[in-house]
Amino acid sequence: MASRQFPEHFVWGTATSSYQIEGAWDEDGKGPHIWDAYAMLPGRIKDGSSGAIAIDHYHHLEEDVALMKSLGVQAYRFSMCWSRILPRGEGEVNEAGIAFYNRLIDLLLEAGIAPYVTLYHWEMPLALEMTYGGWLYEGIDDHFAAYARLCFERFGDRVKQWMTFNESNAIAECGYRWGVHAPGRMANPDTEPYLCAHHLLLSHAKAVAVYRQEFQAQQNGQIGIAHNTYWPEPASEKAEDREAAERAFDFTVGWLHDPLYRGDYPASMRQRLGEKLPSFSPEEQKLLIGSYDYIGINHYLSKSVSHSDELGDDFSGVIGTKMKEGCLDFDAWDQGYPHGGSAYPDGFRKLLEKVSQRYGQPPIVITENGFFQETLAETSAALADDDRITYLNAYLAAMHDAMTAGVDVLGYFLWTLFDNFEWSEGYQVAMGIYHVDHTNMRRTPKRSAAFYQKLIADNAVSL
Ligand code: BGC
Repeated sequence: MASRQFPEHFVWGTATSSYQIEGAWDEDGKGPHIWDAYAMLPGRIKDGSSGAIAIDHYHHLEEDVALMKSLGVQAYRFSMCWSRILPRGEGEVNEAGIAFYNRLIDLLLEAGIAPYVTLYHWEMPLALEMTYGGWLYEGIDDHFAAYARLCFERFGDRVKQWMTFNESNAIAECGYRWGVHAPGRMANPDTEPYLCAHHLLLSHAKAVAVYRQEFQAQQNGQIGIAHNTYWPEPASEKAEDREAAERAFDFTVGWLHDPLYRGDYPASMRQRLGEKLPSFSPEEQKLLIGSYDYIGINHYLSKSVSHSDELGDDFSGVIGTKMKEGCLDFDAWDQGYPHGGSAYPDGFRKLLEKVSQRYGQPPIVITENGFFQETLAETSAALADDDRITYLNAYLAAMHDAMTAGVDVLGYFLWTLFDNFEWSEGYQVAMGIYHVDHTNMRRTPKRSAAFYQKLIADNAVSL
């Protein structure tokens, strides 16, 4: 068996997000956020569930950190819930919320696990949504920067790794075009996703400026952002298909990262969207360019992309691409992918090489990667997740190949530690390496947990 060894200081971790695991949705002074409200609307979550209780991580902190310790992870990526800290998103601070995250951070550090904190994993405080319009409001960047400052102030003595946003393109597309995530808007799909993303970018830049000007020197940490990516594989060698795949990259990664690298959106977006795409002022560009110490990459799948002449109103009509699903190598796994696309390990390598080349070989952290599976009724079947092991082996080998080719990958966070609330899929999708029994909240390791534990101990992947 060929073995690929990782560098000595490579960081292995697992990732989660607040609404997907915490529960305690209205406890100890937490304010409501848009997902609390959205999940209450009939029909929005496929199984009618919500993250109100989730896996009750809020009341299982000691146990959950002990379990991470037993896995041997060196780091843990989690998100902070804005409205647990600032119940109305601004103004009064909820000290009980601060105390909760302090406890989590302290437990992690005692266990030798470095906290990697995402400031926003999709939960806009409801008060900010209702008062100002959330991400559609031009002044939202000041609110986000103030929240970020508070987090740096209260936690930055111990948290050395920050991310502003998780998947800005998912926030914009799912929340403002397709309406399948909170706030569930579909009224202006031609403009609102771009406006939302624009404000996310400016909010990111402001928060990073706060960190750099007021905290970074004494706290000695780093700050980045986590992007949602897929690899667009051209459906053929034809130039028009290769160009279509290039455009698909522009409209996903380029959309959210070009502005941070060179101060503007990709030319292909400007060309196709015209005035619908907002513009940055010179001052904003200055704030944006270089506003990250590393790039976080969330990656799960690839899509086959071909050219399309259709210029419909839908998203692919704008891009001029067609996505064909289930046409890549890993057919056997396709049914596990609710978002469309295919598992294609080499697509991961290609994506990483592309990001590295396009953005001047930045440090990269894999902030999410993992395997979708339907939730199974039988616990014993759920624990025997051999497909996940096959997937992880192949994807980690591909990541290693990218590193050998010169991509600077510093660490890897497996999505996800526990089966949890998978957004509009509810609890029907199980992505964890720990199974959770919702009748008693018992956590049980799946086969993949032992696999990951060994991989971390060996610091190597074998194929
Ligand atoms: C998100 C996670 C989600 C995962 C699987 C990512 O898009 O950041 O919150 O659970 O993918 O769908």
